Amino acid sequence: MIKTRVTEMLGISHPVIQGGMQWVGRAEMTSAVSNAGGLGVLTALTQPSPEDLLKEIARCREMTDNPFAVNLTILPTIKPVPYADYISAIIDSGIKIVETAGRNPEPFLPAMKAAGIKIIHKCTSLRHSLKAERIGCDMVSVDGFECAGHPGEDDVTNLILLPLAAQRLKIPIIASGGFGDGRGLVAALALGADAINMGTRFMVTQEAPIHEKVKQAMVAASELDTSLIYRSLKNTARVFKNSVALKVLEIEEQEGPTDFDDIAPLVKGTKGRELFEQGELDRGIWSAGMVIGLINDIPTCKDLIERIVNDAEEIIKQRLGNLVSA
Ligand SMILES: Cc1cc2nc3c(=O)[nH]c(=O)nc-3n(C[C@H](O)[C@H](O)[C@H](O)COP(=O)(O)O)c2cc1C
Repeated sequence: MIKTRVTEMLGISHPVIQGGMQWVGRAEMTSAVSNAGGLGVLTALTQPSPEDLLKEIARCREMTDNPFAVNLTILPTIKPVPYADYISAIIDSGIKIVETAGRNPEPFLPAMKAAGIKIIHKCTSLRHSLKAERIGCDMVSVDGFECAGHPGEDDVTNLILLPLAAQRLKIPIIASGGFGDGRGLVAALALGADAINMGTRFMVTQEAPIHEKVKQAMVAASELDTSLIYRSLKNTARVFKNSVALKVLEIEEQEGPTDFDDIAPLVKGTKGRELFEQGELDRGIWSAGMVIGLINDIPTCKDLIERIVNDAEEIIKQRLGNLVSA
């Protein structure tokens, strides 16, 4: 067993967290991770309304007795999102751990704190991590340049970001982006983190509620098979390098400022959902991190977490222990 401040504070057995994932973070995924002793995370905005989120939380409770969290991603969207209503639903449901991401969660903190909720804010820079600590978040999840989804615009990898955050923050740090195996967990702990957060690796598991063809494409992919799109819009996203991602890049490379209207039809969220449901790999885009280069199988969440923790323990006790002479 590896015990850290994060396992203690969240009441979980292993320092392994499943990051919020649009269309993937449903009860099947979340409960599988929590049942395996990690922290599963439901994605609030995968549910079309706060009422549906309440139902999904109830469904997940039927599938696990262990703690799980809800991710709320606060980003500008084409269709306005009733964030305050989602927060009310989360509070009413009795959920005690929330992962916030995107914009500053400050306006929502007092209500969540009053309900006894622990808040993990996901940040992509040291300055945002310091701010998260200052406004009262309980932990930060630090997403390095390697990560799937939005790595920010600074392009600083976790090898630099994590020790910087560890030097400057008092609250626990969760290392996110590029993690998928026991070596990664040991590295994260050595760099000063108290847990790892994984998105891409958990997509490629038996229980992830997405089409088998998507999982197989990710097993076949190498570390070079991701693309950074929306750079020209200063809203960079790391996605799987398919024909749609390449088309987006082609539009962005055209002379003059990028007009999102030219890209929007290619990247609509509903297309991503259909891609996951139908396994049609060029229907839209999907987030994927560089760690796909390290993924070679489609295990159950239980087997994956056990393997990560066992390998980490072995590395710490044997390989690293043996390097130190008395
Ligand atoms: C398919 C997919 C969808 C994601 N959707 C979200 C999201 O809706 N909100 C969010 O905060 N992060 C989202 N992420 C990012 C993950 O929570 C996590 O920060 C990231 O995957 C970590 O990097 P890794 O993929 O290298 O493990 C998504 C990641 C993936 C792979």
